[in-house]
Amino acid sequence: MASTNNIAALQLESVSKRFDQTLAVDDLSFTVGEGETFGFLGGNGAGKTTSLRMVLDIIRPTSGSISVLGRPPGRENAPVIGFLPEERGLYRQMTAIDTIVYFGRLKGMKAGDARREGLALLDRFGLAGNAKSSIDKLSKGMAQKVQLAAAVVNRPRLLLLDEPFSGLDPVNQTLLEDEIRRAATEGATVVFSTHVMQHAERLCDRLLFLAKGRKRFEGTLDEARGSLPARLTLLSRQSPAALPGVISATRLNGGQDGWEEWEVRMAPGANAGDLLERCIADGFPLRRCEEQRPGLHDVFIHLVGPAEARS
Ligand SMILES: Nc1ncnc2c1ncn2[C@@H]1O[C@H](COP(=O)(O)OP(=O)(O)OP(=O)(O)O)[C@@H](O)[C@H]1O
Ligand SMILES: [Mg+2]
Repeated sequence: MASTNNIAALQLESVSKRFDQTLAVDDLSFTVGEGETFGFLGGNGAGKTTSLRMVLDIIRPTSGSISVLGRPPGRENAPVIGFLPEERGLYRQMTAIDTIVYFGRLKGMKAGDARREGLALLDRFGLAGNAKSSIDKLSKGMAQKVQLAAAVVNRPRLLLLDEPFSGLDPVNQTLLEDEIRRAATEGATVVFSTHVMQHAERLCDRLLFLAKGRKRFEGTLDEARGSLPARLTLLSRQSPAALPGVISATRLNGGQDGWEEWEVRMAPGANAGDLLERCIADGFPLRRCEEQRPGLHDVFIHLVGPAEARS
């Protein structure tokens, strides 16, 4: 038997989901290793929620197979999974702590353990004074934090968060980022969907771009960035247009003593290191070379296309 370390936390193989005329998920395959923080990125209607619902066995794939910690999706996985659904929904008359205990019990926890963990979570989330408030007395963001506490109360091995940042103010977005890092540090695998690239940029080990149900990219942040041609800013005394790997050079500013600032676009695959090496070897007059790292937003638009990035 394979050891636990060799089992992927999550694996989808050629998964498709059709709703009448809509192919919501189209032949999707990807793997999330244990302990990874994985970003599931795509615009509205890309198929993120549909995919997560299939992982949780809320809906069944039309075709393909899914493995969750080495097992098929199903209720028996509940004790090791945490899930924050996109549609937040809690019993409005129940208190915050009872809500968390209720979810803990559904995942097979003893009531006492769930209460102890729930109170600790409320304290960490700045809601210690609201443990006995009913959900309908809490603000939207506060209720969302209670739902997050319910998702993590069992210290899940696999934490699935569908648009967890939406509806949270900047302070609580940071709190949620910290909570995701904390879960990851404790060994959990975290998969979260978002269309806000900055969160993914700060948190993900690996990510997947989805558009119209199809995978457009899967890999690390650096691999994603590497798909865009590098852009450099150089301070030189000579035009860098003829240097190897340079496809265009635009003069930005004239400086002192003939030093000028240039923006340089590199050919796909060319990199700043090779260019620097060549400058040194050839005695090219260079004073500064800065690589402009592309943001994930630009990478997403580049890989998915501006029109499809929205769908
Ligand atoms: N129950 C359903 N019945 C019919 N069509 C559905 C159903 N659920 C989702 N769809 C369709 O499947 C596609 C993917 O929807 P999904 O909710 O998975 O997207 P998403 O990536 O989560 O988008 P968002 O960022 O807006 O939450 C959409 O075209 C949607 O209309
Ligand atoms: Mg969704």
